Amino acid sequence: MTTFWNWYVTILSLGTIFALTWLIFGTRKGQRQETTEETLGHAFDGIEEYDNPLPKWWFMLFVGTIIFALGYLALYPGLGNWKGLLPGFDYVDSETKTPFVASVQIADGETRNTGWTGAHQYEKEMAKADAQYGPIFAKYAAMPIEEVAKDEQALKMGGRLFASNCSVCHGSDAKGSYGFPNLSDNEWRWGGSPADIKTTIMGGRHGLMPPQGATIGEDGVRNVAAYVLTELGGRKLPEGTKADVAKGKEIFSTVCFACHGPEGKGTPMMGAPNLTNPSAFIYGSSYAQLQQTIRYGRTNAMPAQETFLGNDKVHLLAAYVYSLSHKAEAEQQ
Ligand code: HEC
Ligand code: HEC
Repeated sequence: MTTFWNWYVTILSLGTIFALTWLIFGTRKGQRQETTEETLGHAFDGIEEYDNPLPKWWFMLFVGTIIFALGYLALYPGLGNWKGLLPGFDYVDSETKTPFVASVQIADGETRNTGWTGAHQYEKEMAKADAQYGPIFAKYAAMPIEEVAKDEQALKMGGRLFASNCSVCHGSDAKGSYGFPNLSDNEWRWGGSPADIKTTIMGGRHGLMPPQGATIGEDGVRNVAAYVLTELGGRKLPEGTKADVAKGKEIFSTVCFACHGPEGKGTPMMGAPNLTNPSAFIYGSSYAQLQQTIRYGRTNAMPAQETFLGNDKVHLLAAYVYSLSHKAEAEQQ
């Protein structure tokens, strides 16, 4: 900050505080100390104003805010170039012995102490958390995912990670919603082995179902949708539907099978879902929705977490997700 702005900010801030202090003490001086029944003679819509002193608690609260403001401005950087009394970049955490770099680079290699900063505090707290939880994460990361999935503490930690990183899309119960797969069933687009799940979370996935409308035509869309819904999905068509399921089957075995497999059970390598379980379809399982999917195609992305969360946290998350589907399996039996 240049000298001008430094003084501008400092004088404006301190000036305001002193002016307010003067105002509150100044107006208090001439006031009576005892309460009264007299009014000032103003009336606003029938509401009148007594000539009473400020309530004491209100006055003390006001004084309190002034003291707080001065204390705050002494401790934190708020007045121009004043860095505050709290420690800055040369601060070294006593437990972890990690120095925090909260200095800014001004010119070639030259740095300046910034004093306390929000970023500095964040780094400090993250370093503390890493020191505290790092070894626990590392311990689980060295165990096979199936084992971690049986560990109660690991699942609790995984559940918390899931709540803060995954539930926005997959739901807090991991049951998914339109466009987002259910992770608690045992239906997988990209494979449900521990390794598959971890690969999915680490690297993300990109699902692409190419539009088929132009290739197979409107009749083709209707027929193949009918085939998927009835023969593969075991459901009924809406009443009055005119569709040729046999023709749909033909289309399926020439166009769709390459990705969804000859029996429509899906190909995890391509993220092509199983089409024999309509209740797990993420884009809806009505006859109309199926036609929509087939006619226009669908694309979707699961964002990669490797750089953001790192291997150890993803390992825990994979165990957590794995445990959900295996719980579901146990309940079915
Ligand atoms: C921005 C939304 C979003 C977030 C956040 C997200 N996901 Fe996903 N996830 C998706 C979508 C969309 C898919 C489906 C991708 C596809 O179409 O194949 C998916 C797929 C998956 C799959 C594969 C499911 C299957 O059937 O094979 C797993 C496992 C998964 N996510 C786990 C997670 C975990 C764990 C997290 C938290 C770290 C997470 N996701 C965060 C959107 C998200
Ligand atoms: C090039 C490979 C490919 C071909 C060919 C293909 N699909 Fe797909 N299909 C996919 C993929 C991948 C997805 C998942 C898209 C996503 O996750 O967003 C998908 C999704 C779907 C879905 C949605 C399932 C859900 O969860 O809602 C349906 C239905 C479907 N395909 C039917 C068909 C039919 C019928 C054909 C043939 C006419 C076909 N697909 C051809 C790869 C393909």
